Amino acid sequence: MAPKVFVLNGVNLGTLGRRRPDVYGTLTLNDIEKLLCDEFSGVEFEFRQTDHEGEMVGFIREAAGSVGLTINPGAWTHYSYALHDALETIDIPKVEVHLSNVHAREEWRRRSVVSPAVDAIVAGMGARGYLVAVGYILSRGDDSRV
Ligand code: DQA
Repeated sequence: MAPKVFVLNGVNLGTLGRRRPDVYGTLTLNDIEKLLCDEFSGVEFEFRQTDHEGEMVGFIREAAGSVGLTINPGAWTHYSYALHDALETIDIPKVEVHLSNVHAREEWRRRSVVSPAVDAIVAGMGARGYLVAVGYILSRGDDSRV
């Protein structure tokens, strides 16, 4: 059976491609999802995007039975304790992804309240960050030396 990976994108990420291309790049979310499918043809992806925090909590819970999730919470990153609590409840590999280098931008973007509830963080790699995150999830447990 193909491993299932959830790729969750939060508030405003549905506007990628049009939104600040200088910061977030020109690819749409659809383009990024296609990149992932091309790169990991053996994976069954569950792609979800929402602008509603409660709906995102539901997606996180749904991911509980999968091999892992990536989440770009958008601006929720910086203040959503609800997402933190939902993430800490599920025991699968979890990677927080940011297209931009949040540490090189406004001061308020430097703080993530969800980071303590995930295994790893990728920021500043643009769309490539999603590929890195899924690669990490799939490699978990493969090699005890790294
Ligand atoms: C973002 C960074 C956040 O600060 C911002 O609110 C976003 C996108 C990123 O992918 O770089 O919406 O998560």
